[in-house]
Amino acid sequence: MTRIVLFENIHPSALDVFAAAGLTDVVTYKSALPSDELSAALKGAALVGIRSRTHLDAALFAGLPDLRAVGCFCIGTNQVDLDAAMMRGVPVFNAPFSNTRSVAELVLGETILLLRRIPEKNDRVHHGHWDKTADGAFEARGKTLGIVGYGNIGSQVGILAEAAGMRVVFHDIEAKLPLGNARACTSLAQLLEQSDVVTLHVPGGSGTRNLIDAKALATMKRGSILINASRGTVVDIDALHQALQSEHLSGAALDVFPIEPKGRDEALQSPLIGMRNVILTPHIGGSTQESQENIGREVAEKLVRFVQGGATKGAVNFPEIPYQDAGNATRILHVHRNEPGALGSLSSLMAAHGLNIVRQQLQTLGQVGYVISDVEGTVSDAVITELRANPVTIRCDRI
Ligand code: NAI
Repeated sequence: MTRIVLFENIHPSALDVFAAAGLTDVVTYKSALPSDELSAALKGAALVGIRSRTHLDAALFAGLPDLRAVGCFCIGTNQVDLDAAMMRGVPVFNAPFSNTRSVAELVLGETILLLRRIPEKNDRVHHGHWDKTADGAFEARGKTLGIVGYGNIGSQVGILAEAAGMRVVFHDIEAKLPLGNARACTSLAQLLEQSDVVTLHVPGGSGTRNLIDAKALATMKRGSILINASRGTVVDIDALHQALQSEHLSGAALDVFPIEPKGRDEALQSPLIGMRNVILTPHIGGSTQESQENIGREVAEKLVRFVQGGATKGAVNFPEIPYQDAGNATRILHVHRNEPGALGSLSSLMAAHGLNIVRQQLQTLGQVGYVISDVEGTVSDAVITELRANPVTIRCDRI
């Protein structure tokens, strides 16, 4: 029986996927466990599912020889010691795309609201004013949306915006296939100077720190709008504050901030608080019921494909091998140190036992090699024991 232990209230969509695959030995916990209780809870588990609050470190992996794979039912994987997992032959999976659509929809909604100055009008009505005017209110149709970072989210935003009648331009540091009628700009400046709304979808890190600074903001059209639902460090907040105060920009929406509150009861510190036509949201761009459900399904499917077929496509710390049907063959999953002759020694050992390999897939990543061998007939325990005893072997399983 493949025991699965899930922490942190993972969406039931994951259980449906496991059940459909015949994996019914599932233990669920509503929250994360303190580290001293974690290893006891994971004893005998083949698969573990966590979100961001469960920390899996090297010592924990060392004490869990039965653990075969980790599913992070979220985007980030910082909570797991990925190298330690890899060196124990344990792939770690996550859900990088499950909330793409949620972010894209929010950006389109904010685009329309800001073009109509709704945040400000909403606030005025709540405070007893009835400013019935068309001043400063525009349709999205025919306006230019500039997308900085045309990856998973950026390209989805482009599709939705075109459906609303917008003209879409984008800038990316990599060559990207334009979807729909979107057009690539040759530089960030070229995008900024023609866009009515600029939306940012780049990764965080040093390469994008203050990508939108005072100079970039000055390059934007007068009266234009900035939306950032990517990473807080991408925008120089003081420079944005000035651009809004001087009315060079007519509005902004920010879902992410350079320093974000650590919890519910901590307030955001930002000069943008209280500004007119500025939407501030608590990093919820990707947080919807649908994205949670998608995450449950996406990660559970990756875990099932791994335990039942050895597929590691999408693993964040492991040589990636896509799913392939084993047919009638017996499948051997072998993780080894990435050394010359490793594959040869493995194949010779199987040949010595008269096993005929009908298909073999090898992939390496850094210090680790991973090979899936499909062999005719049955494979005895003695063969698996010998493969495990091979000095290059990190881990070996038969499915
Ligand atoms: P992705 O990796 O698919 O796309 C990022 C794109 O940015 C890539 O095409 C890359 O080539 C491009 N890029 C990198 N540096 C650039 C630069 N200096 N100028 C122009 N383009 C550049 O990432 P994805 O999934 O689309 O996510 C985008 C951002 O959204 C990430 O920062 C991610 O952390 C954030 N995010 C925010 C969420 C929220 O709740 N607000 C939820 C999900 C993701």
